Amino acid sequence: MTTITSPVPTTHTSNAQRRHRVLVTRAIPDAALRELEATFDVESNQDDVLWPVHELIARLQGKDGVMTNGSLRIDAALLEACPDLRICANMAVGYNNFDVEAMTAHGVQGTNTPDVLTETTADFGFALLLATARRVTESERYLREGRWKGWRHDMFCGPDVHGATLGIIGMGRIGQAIAQRAAHGFGMRVIYHNRSQLDAATEQRLKARWVDKNTLLREADHVMLVLPYSPAAHHTIGAAELVLMKSTATLVNLARGGIVDDAALAAALRERRIAAAGLDVFEGEPSVHPDLLTVPNAVLTPHIASASTATRLAMARLAARNLQSYLLEGKAITPVNKLANALASHRAAKA
Ligand code: GLV
Repeated sequence: MTTITSPVPTTHTSNAQRRHRVLVTRAIPDAALRELEATFDVESNQDDVLWPVHELIARLQGKDGVMTNGSLRIDAALLEACPDLRICANMAVGYNNFDVEAMTAHGVQGTNTPDVLTETTADFGFALLLATARRVTESERYLREGRWKGWRHDMFCGPDVHGATLGIIGMGRIGQAIAQRAAHGFGMRVIYHNRSQLDAATEQRLKARWVDKNTLLREADHVMLVLPYSPAAHHTIGAAELVLMKSTATLVNLARGGIVDDAALAAALRERRIAAAGLDVFEGEPSVHPDLLTVPNAVLTPHIASASTATRLAMARLAARNLQSYLLEGKAITPVNKLANALASHRAAKA
């Protein structure tokens, strides 16, 4: 049910001040919703109805803030149609759904949810890596289909994970948490590629070595993608990159759809030019390239890398705290843009 909650007095606003109005575009954990409702007039969407853009824009009229997930595009057209909006709080660490430049020009604060999902997402990176290399879902399908007739020495053999070389592309917080697990938990040799090199102490702690992208692709037994999406990162892995990888290598994409050319990957998997891939994100998701659905050597999950119960609650709470902190105190906790003069001029224009 879509609800508009009635105002309750709080210590944050005087009776003379109107409570800020906030739209939550998708269902969120109840505890986080209750926290928001203690402070704001909240229009929520706990039935998780997918609103078309025109309906979303209608619901955003008169709203000071919105809690979004990473798939709702916030661009100049939407901002122009929603002149009351002052903050968009993503319940996601990635914010490629934001046109940050347009938001800054409109004096709209953007926020994301870093840190709270790092370890959970890194755990899932390993879940996908292990499932992909050790052919967990492929062999489970075989068993469920009643095809298992007995033990064979070469049944579902795949590459080892422990002791292998892991190539990580994107070495932010999540990349580093994966490197930590790889080096210290699985005795892997870690190489990474990132725009900037880590400081020597961090490299030493993670036992990780910076290499150029092509060296990484040639040397890695397993490649893990954890870089943020940007137009420059589009098809970081395409046909030309797949050719460089070992035929025994695996590829895991935890990052964003569009970082991998999914059609080129499906062809490489079908022709066994690489061994296998584990994908949690897809170009044009929730649609999945049909060829990926038919190759046996792909482990496919529906964008769930941060989906532990505790972490999803922590993400919703951080997004809620960003709305509270910005609308009540003028300062976001985890901002993704700096407003400075743009905010002042926008507010003046609205006054
Ligand atoms: C999920 O993909 C996120 O960006 O948090």
